[in-house]
Amino acid sequence: MKTEPTDTKKDDSLLYHPPKSIMRKANIKEYEQAYAKSIADREGYWAGEAKKLKWFRKWKEVLDDSNKPFYKWFTGGKINIVANAIDRHLETHRRNKLAMIWEGEPGDVKTMSYHALNREVSKFANVLKSMGVKKGEIVTIYMPQIPELPIAMLACAKIGAMHSVVYGGFSVEALAGRISDAHSRVLVTADGGWRRGKITDLKAIANEAMDRSPTIEVCITVKRTGQEVHMENDRDFWYSDLMALPIASPSCETEVTDAEDPLFILFTSGTTGKPKGLVHTHGGYTVYTSTTLRNVFDIKDEDRWWCAADPGWITGHSYLVYGPLINGATIVMYEGAPNHPYPNRWWSMIEKYGVSILYTSPTAIRGLMRFGEQWPKRHDLSSLRLLGSVGEPINPEAWRWYHEVIGRGECPIMDTWWQTETGGMMIAPLPITPLKPGSATKPQFGIEVGVVDENGEDVKAGEEGKLVIKGPWPGMARTIYGDADRYAETYWKEYEEQGWYKAGDSARIDEDGYIWIIGRIDDVIKVSGYRLGTAEVESALVSHPAVSEAAAIALPHEVKGNAIHTYVILKNGLVGDKKLEEELRKHVSDEMGPIARPETVAFLESLPKTRSGKIMRRVLKARAMGVDEGDLSTLED
Ligand code: PRX
Repeated sequence: MKTEPTDTKKDDSLLYHPPKSIMRKANIKEYEQAYAKSIADREGYWAGEAKKLKWFRKWKEVLDDSNKPFYKWFTGGKINIVANAIDRHLETHRRNKLAMIWEGEPGDVKTMSYHALNREVSKFANVLKSMGVKKGEIVTIYMPQIPELPIAMLACAKIGAMHSVVYGGFSVEALAGRISDAHSRVLVTADGGWRRGKITDLKAIANEAMDRSPTIEVCITVKRTGQEVHMENDRDFWYSDLMALPIASPSCETEVTDAEDPLFILFTSGTTGKPKGLVHTHGGYTVYTSTTLRNVFDIKDEDRWWCAADPGWITGHSYLVYGPLINGATIVMYEGAPNHPYPNRWWSMIEKYGVSILYTSPTAIRGLMRFGEQWPKRHDLSSLRLLGSVGEPINPEAWRWYHEVIGRGECPIMDTWWQTETGGMMIAPLPITPLKPGSATKPQFGIEVGVVDENGEDVKAGEEGKLVIKGPWPGMARTIYGDADRYAETYWKEYEEQGWYKAGDSARIDEDGYIWIIGRIDDVIKVSGYRLGTAEVESALVSHPAVSEAAAIALPHEVKGNAIHTYVILKNGLVGDKKLEEELRKHVSDEMGPIARPETVAFLESLPKTRSGKIMRRVLKARAMGVDEGDLSTLED
């Protein structure tokens, strides 16, 4: 049955009701009452979900809030995420089920059962141990989207080490900084990967980054492309060589970790300075990612789940790797560009592998939409049951295309709002929720959301305010690695009295209680769904010898959602021209990675600043967009 929009006669007027076939099969049949119950007894709700997992020892306390905002979950409990993502499936029919279907950009395919995944993970875990990797140590992983990436993550978790995955699109500076912050001794990388028919120089970048990060003692490299790379004696090892040694035994005991033991750190951009490494734990994160995936995407044993995010980002951590494996699903993973060699690549993969749920970003949808519907129309996409969106607001036009052209008008779209900090989906529909295009709809169970003013008062329906989460949840980041003060300050200080988490987004709630995310209210920008800090782009610009000062802002972009525009003041006597503009754009890309490449670089004599010397990016943005500049009373001159 088709999903028909109904006119609700309200401002956000179209409601899409899920088809009966979806409603009938849904894991959860009713939202409002179940939600109210989960909020009335949050600890009871989370304990109930935690019970569905494998614990080595049950927790004593569900929530320990004795040291706010450093909440602890399931204290006294012993668990390991890998015991849940792999080990327990080996005792069931899932042992022989496909855990992973992977396709490389050149068209090579690898599949792995849970049994095979366990062998690979155990072997690599033993390799890491042989390199002296200990519980609590952070291994940095810098890889393309190949099976060895999740294998390396799971191997770290299995032995109680933490992983810090650095997105394979990042460059030298970004990688070096993250390695140093994590004090990593071991780096796992690849010689390169395939992207748009070309090979990337991952190992060359890793080598340069290692020159700048003296902590690295061991570098393990997967041979993916076979290109010539520089290997250093005593430091560099080939993954395949190590995996062939007797030490790489396929049997490895899974470490018994505390619920609150750290599982990984993941760096993300903040308002100021360097990216911060958010810390997630074995217990709460396992409960949170698996529960939300089951609720929002109704994951079933027969599903083939494709989260098209890179494992280098939180979406990939939570919903490409951990969440689906804990639920025993079959994950689909793809190495390369969605439009290579033709814009039907994704659609042909959906048909070929019978993908039933696709989870991706609005930027990817808009990008593929540009090529027209003749590309998806060539393929049988009838295996699709549900679609998902994440990372940025989805505009109604992209929503409708996704729904009509990809989802045949029959697949509900789960628009999911969450963050690196939250660990998993916070605001998202269930498959039974009537949808409004562009709204992430309602909070997940156990999550109370508010849209408030400076004083913490709820704003009126339809009005914009700050998005807060009223109280802790198991998937929340526990701290910023090495900087607990910054964690408390950034997220919990503003509403300390109430004990609320400040998300850094603005939003509104309509009369039906539907939540509409508007965007960031700090100096974080989302470009193609990627999270970047204006401060990082600015410091990359200033590291160029010609630049004395720089400012970066985001302006709307048709495909990317936002694009980076920059303004620079050159050093004495230098004059800006097209050539220098190009050089500066390339410089940022070389330093940080292609995702940070500015759209434009404009040369200015001065930047608008407050009297205390802070750049007023808001003024630059208003000028660029030709809108009112607002209150200028703090402007220096
Ligand atoms: O601004 C919100 C936006 O992405 C930010 C979090 O970015 P990151 O930590 O990289 O995590 C992205 C993937 C979970 C949020 O503060 N955002 C995320 N999802 C949505 C969104 N904005 C609107 N709608 C969404 N569904």
